[in-house]
Amino acid sequence: MCGIVGYVGFRNATDVLLDGLKRLEYRGYDSAGVAVRTPWGLRVVKRSGKLSALEEALEGEGLQGALGIGHTRWATHGAPTDPNAHPHTTEDGRIAVIHNGIIENYLELKEALLARGHRFSSETDSEVLAHLIEEKYRGDLFQALREALREVRGAYAVVAVHQDHEELVAARTVSPLVVGLGEGENFLASDVPALLPYTRRVIFLQDGDLVRLTREGVEVTDLEGRPLDRPVEEVDWSLEAAEKGGFPHYMLKEIYEQPWVLENTLGGRLSEERGEAELGLELDPLSVDRVHLIACGTAAYAGWYGKYLLEGLAKLPADWEVASEYRYRDPVVDGRTLAVAISQSGETIDTLEALREARRKGARALGVVNAKGSSITREVEEVLYIHAGPEIGVASTKAYTAMLAAMALLALWFARARGVLPLEEARTLIREMKKLPRLVEEALEKRPIVAHIAEKYHQAQDFLFLGRHVQAPTAYEGALKLKEISYIHAEAYPAGEMKHGPIALIDEHLPVVVLATKGPLYEKTLSNIQEVRARGGKVIAIATEGDEEIRKLAQDVVYVPEVHPLLSPIVSVVPLQLLAYEVAVLLGRDVDQPRNLAKSVTVE
Ligand code: AGP
Repeated sequence: MCGIVGYVGFRNATDVLLDGLKRLEYRGYDSAGVAVRTPWGLRVVKRSGKLSALEEALEGEGLQGALGIGHTRWATHGAPTDPNAHPHTTEDGRIAVIHNGIIENYLELKEALLARGHRFSSETDSEVLAHLIEEKYRGDLFQALREALREVRGAYAVVAVHQDHEELVAARTVSPLVVGLGEGENFLASDVPALLPYTRRVIFLQDGDLVRLTREGVEVTDLEGRPLDRPVEEVDWSLEAAEKGGFPHYMLKEIYEQPWVLENTLGGRLSEERGEAELGLELDPLSVDRVHLIACGTAAYAGWYGKYLLEGLAKLPADWEVASEYRYRDPVVDGRTLAVAISQSGETIDTLEALREARRKGARALGVVNAKGSSITREVEEVLYIHAGPEIGVASTKAYTAMLAAMALLALWFARARGVLPLEEARTLIREMKKLPRLVEEALEKRPIVAHIAEKYHQAQDFLFLGRHVQAPTAYEGALKLKEISYIHAEAYPAGEMKHGPIALIDEHLPVVVLATKGPLYEKTLSNIQEVRARGGKVIAIATEGDEEIRKLAQDVVYVPEVHPLLSPIVSVVPLQLLAYEVAVLLGRDVDQPRNLAKSVTVE
């Protein structure tokens, strides 16, 4: 997934592009570049490495212009080198192109272009777009883009400029692209934060849309050139929300935003009087016989949690599966199956394709998504937005707890509609759900204890995370957080699985994090802790305030406030997020932009 920015107007394009790329760097950061239209032609400057390398290259260059495009890359085809960085240009340098996505038929296109005498300067798939546009160009750049894209198969957000025209032309299929509307200036970007310093009026381009931007206006068409009418939306995110807000890292800011986020996720959606979740969905809950929860990574663990609640509360058969497996296993689906696509970005290609597979097979479709106007939200029948605000840190935190809360809302909604949850039980659950923002606030106050534990164990080579029932997904999420930002190997297992092999791992060098909060399986979990202790393992327990029993068994305990056992993951995951963060900082890792990762994986 890459970051794209385009500008045409009265400001110095170089400044606008660099500012925008900084706000999109989380989308991928192994090379970056700009192309700016000057009186002497298109000037392209690009460098491998982080955006700072490009900034250094531009210092003293004095690159000025009223129009330009910029790109920060997460490599798919071709190593992160200067030649492979975008923008890509034609040999005569008159056309420059930036691209996010994959050109699936680029090899055949490249061979044909080479056979017709084109010379390439990179090993990327994206460069074929520049040469195709060059071949089609006869004075109208927009028409040339349309004709070029007729030969292209794949996913793209592509932007092109020509030195003879003060205009940007662009197109999107699968990869996101947003237009920002200004006065005497217009913008393009992969994502909203790049636009916020300049405008809040945006157009979310849809699959198959093409657009031409000049400083006077914006023209949206389809691939045939027919005009399209797209709504102008007002973005309500403040710039601060997309900034760090005084925290050292986006990730820490977002961990601390969770109480506020949960207020947003749950706000207006719970009626204690009626014992109902009020989700505003058209879907008839009684038209659904089973649910398929489909997602990737952290979102998949939210789906796993959702399974427990949908079956436990609503007595509704539910399966969860990582999207990359679901889409290829020929799942059994019919018109009474509800496919639920869970995604923070709404752009994860595996989740999108798995959703398409379920829909092809006749499933109903619901999105549980954070990013408004994202691709997944356009391919489901309805969306239950999680309202977590922009999540910039690559490691998902506030979106996860918001997804868990959304799963609880959905399970409650089904349970009451199906008549399997009595009013008083529903009211009790709702009262507990309304406590969550405050309880998460209390869990955040345990950060000093977590920091002390991180200090003790941050040199460990391996970690093991264990949990039972709804705390099993929590264990897997805790392990994922730790490994993706500290690069320490961390595994998770349902605690009952330990004796079937993983127990062989236990020794005095292995910290074992156990979710041991009060609930129906607490005693069973204590037995697992004793198994670990008997083999010299070091136990770090996440336990319920007031539990003195656990102190006798665990080396370290982080206490979290008591809550309804089905909701405990929403509170218990907080110390695990903080543990991963503190360990990563102690190890000097790049917390917001961990190596090899991107915020949203929009390529397969
Ligand atoms: C989470 O910390 C990871 N960055 C990753 O697993 C992420 O959850 C996954 O790629 C799914 O992203 P999505 O929620 O935007 O679809």
